[in-house]
Amino acid sequence: MPVITNIEDLRQVARRKLPKAIFEYVDHGSYDQVSLAANRDDLKAIRFRQRVLINADNRQLATTMLGEKVAMPIAIAPTGLTGLLRGNGEMLAARAAEAAGIRFCLSTMSICSIEDVREATKAPFWFQLYVFRDRGFSESVIERAKAAGCSALFLTVDLPMRGQRHCDIKNGLEVPPRLTARNAFDIATKPAWALSVLMGKRKSFGNIDAYLNNKGGLWAAGRWGNDNFDASLSWEDVSWVRKLWPGKLVLKGVLDVEDAKHAADMGADAIVVSNHGGRQLDGAPSTIAALPRIADAAGHRIEVLFDGGIRSGQDVLKALALGARGCLIGRAYLYGLAAMGETGVAKAISLIGEELRVSMSLTGVRDVADVSRDILFDSVGDRRNI
Ligand SMILES: Cc1cc2nc3c(=O)[nH]c(=O)nc-3n(C[C@H](O)[C@H](O)[C@H](O)COP(=O)(O)O)c2cc1C
Repeated sequence: MPVITNIEDLRQVARRKLPKAIFEYVDHGSYDQVSLAANRDDLKAIRFRQRVLINADNRQLATTMLGEKVAMPIAIAPTGLTGLLRGNGEMLAARAAEAAGIRFCLSTMSICSIEDVREATKAPFWFQLYVFRDRGFSESVIERAKAAGCSALFLTVDLPMRGQRHCDIKNGLEVPPRLTARNAFDIATKPAWALSVLMGKRKSFGNIDAYLNNKGGLWAAGRWGNDNFDASLSWEDVSWVRKLWPGKLVLKGVLDVEDAKHAADMGADAIVVSNHGGRQLDGAPSTIAALPRIADAAGHRIEVLFDGGIRSGQDVLKALALGARGCLIGRAYLYGLAAMGETGVAKAISLIGEELRVSMSLTGVRDVADVSRDILFDSVGDRRNI
């Protein structure tokens, strides 16, 4: 195992360990991947003010997200098919999150079910909901999330239809999947991955499977999910979900100021400024470009969380400076999971936490609560593209 110094190191190990189709499913974005690249490029373009001789001993990373105490301002983003990167992937990631004192958010399209994750961890976790055409599914899965003690519901609003990822089509990772000679060969060269996934508790979409009375497995549940994305999703559905879910409600996938204000009007507790990791509307702005305007316009009424392109603690600090309460990490934790299982997720979290700690010190802030635009080199409003 090579020395791991950053998330990119975990990504390189993940690339070697995963079949190409699975690695690219994680790594790539939709269409020409313009927004995927913008998420990273715009984060990288931001510069800090380097401050010196400010006593920044005992930095405080602990904060709250959605009113819950967390050891640092990050959480694990909901990601579909995670149990296909590593057997029991969602359970492993939830355990790593619990050990690090941060929250894990389970996707509707997970391999392990809500109940599996409940058994794997004692900590509260969050659940992400896709409202499908079959509203009975949403009702039933919301009840299951309540029964599992999930402390927040993330309603994903940026996927009424799926954006296309060219790689998935080329790699046969479609619904139904195509087993090409090339990916069969690729799988045969990754026996450790195949064994881990085969030994996993589940090999299908755990949440959907239970609703379909466990008939059909991965392909049938995948097809059901695919056929059930609902292009008619609207603000009325948000009110409907609001009535069903008494706990914290978060709208994930907001990128526009008007939508952020509307979310607050509808009684949502928080939003995630997100473009689905550059996997949906290609040509949408980077999330870090959208964040400051949204934070300015709605941050006093609704908690603003952020995701997209976070690969380091420096990235987290930039997002906090521009108005986020906390950040979700998607690919960063998935690379860790694929590379080293639970240990890899723990490594991804600790790398980001340590980078955040050091960068806070070098920008002269002691407490994440004190992070503001003041730590940035030039005010973001003055920048041309951000
Ligand atoms: C492989 C993969 C699967 C994802 N699946 C879901 C999902 O099921 N539900 C959802 O709301 N977001 C999903 N997302 C989006 C993430 O929750 C998050 O918004 C995104 O990964 C953040 O960008 P980052 O990967 O650059 O950190 C997925 C992202 C990836 C990379």
